[in-house]
Amino acid sequence: MKQKQQQALQIAIDGPAGAGKSTVAKLVAEQLHLFYVDTGAMYRAIAYKALKCKIDLADELNVSQIAKNVEVVLDHSEAGTVWCDGENVTQVIRNPEISRAVSTVAAYAEVRERLVGLQRREAERGGVVMDGRDIGTHVLPEASLKIFLTATLQERAKRRWRELVKAGKNAILEEVAKDIQERDRQDTQRAVSPLESAQDAIILDTTGLSVEEIVGKIIALTQEDGR
Ligand code: DC
Repeated sequence: MKQKQQQALQIAIDGPAGAGKSTVAKLVAEQLHLFYVDTGAMYRAIAYKALKCKIDLADELNVSQIAKNVEVVLDHSEAGTVWCDGENVTQVIRNPEISRAVSTVAAYAEVRERLVGLQRREAERGGVVMDGRDIGTHVLPEASLKIFLTATLQERAKRRWRELVKAGKNAILEEVAKDIQERDRQDTQRAVSPLESAQDAIILDTTGLSVEEIVGKIIALTQEDGR
């Protein structure tokens, strides 16, 4: 790991949908006493706001306008809580309707520009674990440690399906898999900051690994010298 003070530690965790990024990132942040920044939640908040304002998601100009004016806050006093223009959207942004809409919104350059600015400001608070699609490649290119988490489509779909069922939502595994596949396609093929692993990222295939095992591997990597 690059030699940095603990408070300046920046861990970037990227990867496709359902790879376990947020679960793992949250635990790593807790154990290392760092801030956790869920950048996907920010894109979800924009998609939520655009849909709430009945904006056609294909209308890049209007969606970008929303992104410029909306106030998105990740509440670190209550981990995981997301506010959008004063509304607590923590739960609603996880709905399948938002999951299907968000990749369209995330492909717009001005939406990304606004959110990347907010994300970099989050990183100025001190040490962070930030998860997303372009953290190691674009948001925090100087991150102390870059992880690219991945797993087979089947495993990722199962994990996302279990989360939805646990949250009391109606979900069909095959549909969840199809949605994830479509989202991966859009995220990897978009022109601006597509999903890809940074050249200096460590690729961790989490298929068959428990959350504890993955967290343990990442924490061990932060303790390695000379990277
Ligand atoms: O990680 P997630 O499923 O909550 O992300 C929601 C969407 O936001 C996902 O389809 C890709 C997009 N996203 C992105 O483009 N860049 C990020 N840094 C984080 C998420």
